[in-house]
Amino acid sequence: GDDVDLKNSIRLIREVPDFPEPGVLFRDISPMLADPAALRAITDALGRGLEFDVVAGVEARGFLLGAAVAQAHGTGVIGLRKPGKLPEVADRISYELEYGHATLELPADTLRAGQRVLVVDDVLATGGTLGAACRLVRQAGSEVTAATVVMELAALGGRAKVDGEHVRALLRS
Ligand code: PRP
Repeated sequence: GDDVDLKNSIRLIREVPDFPEPGVLFRDISPMLADPAALRAITDALGRGLEFDVVAGVEARGFLLGAAVAQAHGTGVIGLRKPGKLPEVADRISYELEYGHATLELPADTLRAGQRVLVVDDVLATGGTLGAACRLVRQAGSEVTAATVVMELAALGGRAKVDGEHVRALLRS
């Protein structure tokens, strides 16, 4: 059933020590995405019971997940991108990381004011990225139905940076 598929899916997440820097345990969902039953289970669980008009997936693995969720729910998908990739930008937001800062950009002619948006990414770590993605959606005049991830690294406390949003994590570790 659904729960068995979800449990098996989670076993396909790879843990890679010392990436991208020493001391960090990187969670790579690539093998999970490559497995058909896992992709279906994760996709279903991310969007289940939620009402939204469009999906916003965060670069890079959020693009893959976001497109699958959108297709399953009959919506379109928008990629929130790192800077310098888009020819035309509707809006952008910058945010602080532990060391330095980062930016996400909303492509032109995608999101319409008032749309209900499901924000999708793979991992919630410090929360900077997911929080910024939600602020970008709101800044553009739309509303966030929920911010959803496959995995939340709960010990980092990142949920606090996604303040005021409904956060759904399929797995906490
Ligand atoms: C990872 C992950 C999230 C973000 C979470 O992306 O996919 O987008 O970090 O971290 P945070 O909660 O601390 O902000 P990464 O920087 O590896 O970029 P990529 O997906 O483009 O490879």
